[in-house]
Amino acid sequence: MNYSNLKIEIKESIALLTINRPDKLNALNRKTVEEIGSGMDELTADENVRGIIITGAGEKAFVAGADISEIAALDRETGRKFAAAGQAVFDKIEQCPKPVLAAVNGFALGGGCELAMACHMRFASENARFGQPEVNLGLIPGFGGTQRLPRLVGKGRALQLLTTGDVIGADEAFRIGLVNEVVPQNELLDRCGRILKTIFEKSPLAVSEVIEMVNKGLDLDLAAAEKLEAIRFGHICAGEDKAEGTAAFLEKRKPKFSGK
Ligand code: COA
Repeated sequence: MNYSNLKIEIKESIALLTINRPDKLNALNRKTVEEIGSGMDELTADENVRGIIITGAGEKAFVAGADISEIAALDRETGRKFAAAGQAVFDKIEQCPKPVLAAVNGFALGGGCELAMACHMRFASENARFGQPEVNLGLIPGFGGTQRLPRLVGKGRALQLLTTGDVIGADEAFRIGLVNEVVPQNELLDRCGRILKTIFEKSPLAVSEVIEMVNKGLDLDLAAAEKLEAIRFGHICAGEDKAEGTAAFLEKRKPKFSGK
């Protein structure tokens, strides 16, 4: 598929999805959000893809937010629709059965921070900057920010970022648990690639189950989540990958997983 504001490159089972509006610091206009949704559909369905890295074009920004020139024109109804459409696309990222890593290579503000938070893990370059500055514009986050930020960093820290609009550096983002690791910018994509390659050695079925269980379980109480986990554990026990993984351990050899 052809995209105006995205670049997709696939190499060694890794899809690199680059938000590509560098002259606007990769700000998310409607078209870009729609294209991210289509890109995720395409990559989720593509059997040659086992993991996805999302990054921003250029060295300055991951994504500097939703496009403020479009937000300026929104009213109650169009605003609700704009937010709901963005949420649906970001939910698609979070619910992708393949691991999705954010390679945050610069500003991740507003919708950019929300995009990074929708990914399963976040890796940041040393120049990355994070924030939810919507309050500066008389706005609130609309692509999941008020919900995913407290889930990731806790209520107090989330409320501090959301109410002050403060922008924090990569080290502070690491300290509060918003990012998994901070690496030099020229090593960022390599590091993400290595994480994915480690994951590719595991059972794809087990990996996608883990992603789903973590996503679903966080929205349930512990008892319900554990019940679900037991059901899915049983499901996994009936699969070929569990038979292969346990046999390989006992036979002191490397497993060959089929993803079934
Ligand atoms: N929406 C639309 N356009 C944006 C944008 C956004 N969120 N963020 C940056 N841009 C555009 C700028 O308008 C500018 O376009 P222009 O060259 O046509 O004037 C271009 O990207 C470069 O940005 P600029 O502000 O000149 O870069 P800078 O280095 O001086 O500042 C930022 C970088 C990120 C601090 C600044 O762009 C900024 O504050 N952006 C908005 C962040 C924000 O509030 N995001 C949440 C939105 S809800």
